[in-house]
Amino acid sequence: MQIESNKSLKEFNTFNIDVKAKSFVSVNSVETLKEALRNYATEDKFILGGGSNILLTSDLDVLVLHINLRGIKILEESEEEVVLEVQAGENWHEFVCYCLEAGYGGVENLSLIPGNVGTAPIQNIGAYGVELKDVFVRCEAIEIKTRQQRTFTKTDCKFGYRDSIFKNEAKGHYIITSVALKLTKKNHKLSTSYGAIRDELAKEGKTQPGIQDISRAVIAIRKSKLPDPSELGNSGSFFKNPVVSAEEFQQFRNKHPEAPYYEVSATEFKIPAGWLIEQAGFKGQRFGDAGVHEKQALVLVNYGEATGEQIRELAMTIQQKVRDLFGIYIEPEVTII
Ligand code: EPU
Repeated sequence: MQIESNKSLKEFNTFNIDVKAKSFVSVNSVETLKEALRNYATEDKFILGGGSNILLTSDLDVLVLHINLRGIKILEESEEEVVLEVQAGENWHEFVCYCLEAGYGGVENLSLIPGNVGTAPIQNIGAYGVELKDVFVRCEAIEIKTRQQRTFTKTDCKFGYRDSIFKNEAKGHYIITSVALKLTKKNHKLSTSYGAIRDELAKEGKTQPGIQDISRAVIAIRKSKLPDPSELGNSGSFFKNPVVSAEEFQQFRNKHPEAPYYEVSATEFKIPAGWLIEQAGFKGQRFGDAGVHEKQALVLVNYGEATGEQIRELAMTIQQKVRDLFGIYIEPEVTII
């Protein structure tokens, strides 16, 4: 086990924030993970996955464990379906590409989402009508305190919109080491209901799309709206879309009949935070090197040398302005550290 001191985390977070870790270990086996947890039982630790959903606002005066477990294995297979066990450190999009090449369906709508497989369950990643929970079977995790392995079934995970047990009661207690996902080998259940996907497929003249076509459409849509973290630091959507009660929604709608919305249930409505932020005048605005993306107001960006603190301040300013204008609280999706 190799420990590095005073290590810059700039390459390990997609916002490209240059903070330092007091000490840093790259974990490439469950044994190394358990050894690190045993040897440094009393030290404060930070678990780092793909670094795509965090905003680092100061140096981390702790031991950083970078989860770098790799490998994909078939656990079960039939004519119709396959269950794969994917190690936590596998890059999510590379995993999607592996599935597309093998002809496995279920994750094509989740193409190009930054981050790693092991962190996907934490926020139940989702895009274009599909969420991780739709293909999730279970995940394996190590409890930090006891170093015991524990299996979390889909029910255990308590998945919600960008939410799971790992953001709530289990937060900070477990390290996910692998995820089991069930995918289809034929009769794929394609999800093309999302307007932008339908438009993109129609543009290409695809009336009977396959999983590759959907992935291509999703990639085209994402590339047209969302900045590539390797070119412009960002963490995808910075805020969640707020979910409001039917009563609050009615009041909002009376004042803003033009606003887009989704009906979650008869009693709950989701309002796109990107629309609220755009109406508040922030879209494309830049404050030093911290900014709001010009094509998608939900995404905050680092033009180069922004500090995490500057991006946090911008986020708080946006939150306040949206609250003042619309009376709606927008909650960050990104974890601020
Ligand atoms: N909108 C605006 N202005 C903007 C951005 C959006 O008016 O600057 C409006 C759009 O016109 C549209 C509505 O808001 O009517 C929804 O926009 P979009 O379809 O782009 O989706 P979103 O609600 O902004 C969510 C997810 C994305 C995911 C897309 C597609 C959240 C927080 N974000 O964005 O997820 O890719 O739907 O499913 O739920 C992420 O989590 O990092 C992420 C990118």
